[in-house]
Amino acid sequence: MSDLRPREAVLRMAAYHPPTDGREGKLRLDFNENTVGCSPAVIAALREYTRTTALPVYPEYGDARRELATHFGVAEDELLLTNGTDEAIQILMNTFVDAGDDVLLLKPSYAMYRFYAELAGAAVREVEYLEPHLDFPAEALTAAIRSDTKALFLANPNNPTGSSTSLDVLRRILDRAPQAAVLIDEAYFEFCGLTALPLIGVYPNLFVCRTFSKAYGLAAMRVGCVFSQAGNIAWLRKAQSPYSVNALAAVAAQAAIRDPDYVSSYVAQVVAARDQIIAGLAGLGLPTYPSQANFVLFRAGDRAVPLRDELRRRGILVRDRGADIDGCVRVTCGTPEHASRFLDEIKELW
Ligand SMILES: Cc1ncc(COP(=O)(O)O)c(C=O)c1O
Repeated sequence: MSDLRPREAVLRMAAYHPPTDGREGKLRLDFNENTVGCSPAVIAALREYTRTTALPVYPEYGDARRELATHFGVAEDELLLTNGTDEAIQILMNTFVDAGDDVLLLKPSYAMYRFYAELAGAAVREVEYLEPHLDFPAEALTAAIRSDTKALFLANPNNPTGSSTSLDVLRRILDRAPQAAVLIDEAYFEFCGLTALPLIGVYPNLFVCRTFSKAYGLAAMRVGCVFSQAGNIAWLRKAQSPYSVNALAAVAAQAAIRDPDYVSSYVAQVVAARDQIIAGLAGLGLPTYPSQANFVLFRAGDRAVPLRDELRRRGILVRDRGADIDGCVRVTCGTPEHASRFLDEIKELW
């Protein structure tokens, strides 16, 4: 037995255990991934890159940064490439949050905000989404912001609720928290179309992040971006490990944005599948929550876990979200064909 003792924050934090094994060969509707894969142009670019003599060399990001900045309509120094959104959250925490600082989150939301806040030793407070429809708690959240709040993390649209909030509400939050780093996580932007990105010029406390893990089908590459005013990005860059983004990930992101038709046609399929799933579940008497993302949260009551297990036996993975909202299951929307497979199975089971 080792005599080593981790930091208090590590001892105290709750462990996060995503099911990471045994998903191969199944219809994966459990992690909000793209269910058909990335653009063939990305595969071609990766092949080409590995044929060059680039692999022995540490990554250079200049080209990718320039191209991504143009694509997203920001200046180059307003963007930081990250190892997925998770790294953006971690860097924000490392840059702005000391042990004991006040960090404000919503509940339920993406688990990694809490994970990195706890790791930093922050004092986390959570404001709950409003039952019965899991609406965004605009009033309660604005009221919860204190003059010593150091950071506020929210996903728009949110996971696992699927709900989103308006730019007006976001402006109110930003106005109320000038001393706090406010991260608006737009991981599901492509399925919703609403973005706070143009507001970075107006609000020096605003950070917006995007990922290539969802609509773009590149979750394995671990690549995303965070946007903010140039001074803020300089702080984040200072706190980032110099080569945390793999050279192949940067190549993949560049190739992905050069094929916008691939993403828009996949997004159109997801939106159709989302309507299909909501209607199909309603037909079975299973209540759903409105969603602007690539998943639907529904209520299965005390049959939620057996339902998940039976679907798994039939080769379809969904995520039990009962720990967040009693009796709820989250299903990722892929193509209409994937939605039909899911609905056919659940019709037999329910
Ligand atoms: C709101 C939200 N942000 C970020 C992520 C993950 O992003 P990444 O793969 O870029 O780390 C997820 C994944 O489920 C998510 O739901």
